[in-house]
Amino acid sequence: MHRIVFLGPPGAGKGTQAATLARSLSIPHLSTGDLLRGAVAAKTPLGLSAEGHIRAGRLVPDSLVLEILGERLARPDAGGGFLLDGFPRNLAQAEALAQRAPLDVVVAFELPMDLLMTRLTGRRTCPKCNTVYNVVTQPPRVTDRCDLDGTPLVQRADDRPEAVGTRLQVYRTETEPLFQYYTTQGILRPIDATGTPAEVASRVRTAVG
Ligand code: AP5
Ligand code: MG
Repeated sequence: MHRIVFLGPPGAGKGTQAATLARSLSIPHLSTGDLLRGAVAAKTPLGLSAEGHIRAGRLVPDSLVLEILGERLARPDAGGGFLLDGFPRNLAQAEALAQRAPLDVVVAFELPMDLLMTRLTGRRTCPKCNTVYNVVTQPPRVTDRCDLDGTPLVQRADDRPEAVGTRLQVYRTETEPLFQYYTTQGILRPIDATGTPAEVASRVRTAVG
């Protein structure tokens, strides 16, 4: 059984790596960002409450995130393991997760600030299947179209420079304390997230074991 968390700053490549690793391990890729953006797009009450926080680059309140993730974790496919991407993001979420499921490994992505900015500003995503591209580093085969389903790609509302600054700040104050939390538990595996996706994937595989 694999119960994995991907921890790391915005734009570090968590979603890109999670999609591949989850497929190869046959476990679901649970991204709270994707779940929340799905709720925003569907205009559910939870999505409407979350939308302003996401757009501004702030964390969505824990109660909403725990609700949407709790529902997803309760689905049968998550019973045999999971790959969490973007959760937990603060100590309260980490404690709530610990009550629910033990973890095997927390992979911590490390990347210098200038590379984060290039990755974030060039990102485009498929609103239908959540596949991630980058106009500079990972372009789609046809400009602005998803390789998998042809859907026009979009730029995330929180990849605007104002929101990016807030997200990086929030990461430092709220999420970085989790490095110590999981180091104490002996399950933190830091990886160098620079280089090509294939190079990062091989470091992730080694970290996951
Ligand atoms: P979320 O969706 O989780 O965003 P994030 O953590 O800011 O991380 P990103 O998705 O921006 O980056 P990533 O590491 O996945 O990088 P990616 O693979 O896309 O959260 C968004 C918002 O939702 C939050 O701000 C908050 O409001 C809310 N939220 C979500 N979870 C929450 C929670 N638990 N609690 C409270 N609120 C929550 O890659 C980035 C770019 O780089 C892409 O263009 C990609 O193509 C490119 N790239 C990837 N790898 C490489 C490589 N090796 N070389 C070159 N380019 C690469
Ligand atoms: Mg992501």
